[in-house]
Amino acid sequence: MTASWEPLLSRARVAFAARFGGEPAAMGWAPGRVELLGNHTDYNGGLVMSAAIDRATVVAGRRAEGREARFVSVNLDQADAVPLDAIERTESGAWTRYVRGVCWALSQWCGPLKSGVEAVIVGDVPLGGGLSSSASLQSALAWFLIQLGVVPGRSSRAFTHDVGDLHRMELALTLRRCENEFVGVGSGLLDQFSSLFGRADHALFLDCETMAHDRLPLGKPGPAIVVCDSLTSRRLADGMYDQRRAECERVVAAFRDRIPHRGEFHLSWVSLEQLEAAWDQLDPVGRRRARHVLSENERVRQGVEALKSGDVIAFGRLMLASQASSRDDFDNSSQALDELIAAAEAAPGFLGGKLSGAGWAGCTVNLVRAECAADFAEAVRTSYGVKTGITPEIHICRAADGAFGRDLEPAQS
Ligand code: GLA
Repeated sequence: MTASWEPLLSRARVAFAARFGGEPAAMGWAPGRVELLGNHTDYNGGLVMSAAIDRATVVAGRRAEGREARFVSVNLDQADAVPLDAIERTESGAWTRYVRGVCWALSQWCGPLKSGVEAVIVGDVPLGGGLSSSASLQSALAWFLIQLGVVPGRSSRAFTHDVGDLHRMELALTLRRCENEFVGVGSGLLDQFSSLFGRADHALFLDCETMAHDRLPLGKPGPAIVVCDSLTSRRLADGMYDQRRAECERVVAAFRDRIPHRGEFHLSWVSLEQLEAAWDQLDPVGRRRARHVLSENERVRQGVEALKSGDVIAFGRLMLASQASSRDDFDNSSQALDELIAAAEAAPGFLGGKLSGAGWAGCTVNLVRAECAADFAEAVRTSYGVKTGITPEIHICRAADGAFGRDLEPAQS
């Protein structure tokens, strides 16, 4: 049987031979992710549920002479050369900024990379739709560099050992550092965690304060994860994410002195009852944002219980409640996303759905009975198309394993 990553690796091999000549010695593979519950909770020290999906990035390459890392993005047909001892930022939002950020963050973590490299990057995570193609790129690149043995003191074996999750968590935090400090995006841990911790047919749980985490079966056969892309650009969301963080921060400031705590105080320290009791004294925007975050934490708790008892129907209902809360309290849905959900609700096999990730544009994620996935996709395509004149892109996915690396043998000719 062909492994699911073979097609991407074949493309990488062809591109590598054309660009650098010869064969890559190692590869890193890492998936994109969907957010199932726990929207905008991660940077509020809250709870999230997600799943890695079978859309991924592969980075394949080998060591090279000198102190430069040379990368080629096959999808974009662009190249970058990173001077490993003086890594500078490129244009904001560019793929090169992420690539350089990973080299930078790994060096901060473990010391300068041991040698130059040359590698190609190829992927099939839809870009800019809320499926975290960026975390998939970061994790695949980090795995590739570790697999190749150029990250001082880190061996790929450690990640597959019993204590592998400890190393994965350290790596997730390192990659978040890349995103926060080098790329300049103030996101939480959800994306890197999901790409690194995924497991086939499982949802993932993370407590962003304690880092406690779990993998919960979605059932056998589990539901399909159907991603509907509204084809509205996430660029619209520029600035909104930081604005929401600031709005949440205002509520944190209002509660910080009222609630005894040790260490850093997060919004998630506040209970829904405490929020309710202080409602009239809080600013009218901030209190609705806080209600979204705190009720999302509660939905994650219920979602964990639902999956533990195999109740995927209850889980689906929680996703719909999350979407309603995004629409009414957090104001991070949009007409397009609401309409995509309305179309999904009327389609066969629908169990539940919500926007995925930051919001405002991009994709919805739906759980759909596996046997109905193709009919579901057709129905949403048609009804959303009739209503808006736009044919959404639909991806029928499965919950997938998290990132891994491999040494590569020369391809059989
Ligand atoms: C984006 C961020 C995540 C998370 C979600 C919202 O995807 O990258 O860290 O905050 O938005 O839940």
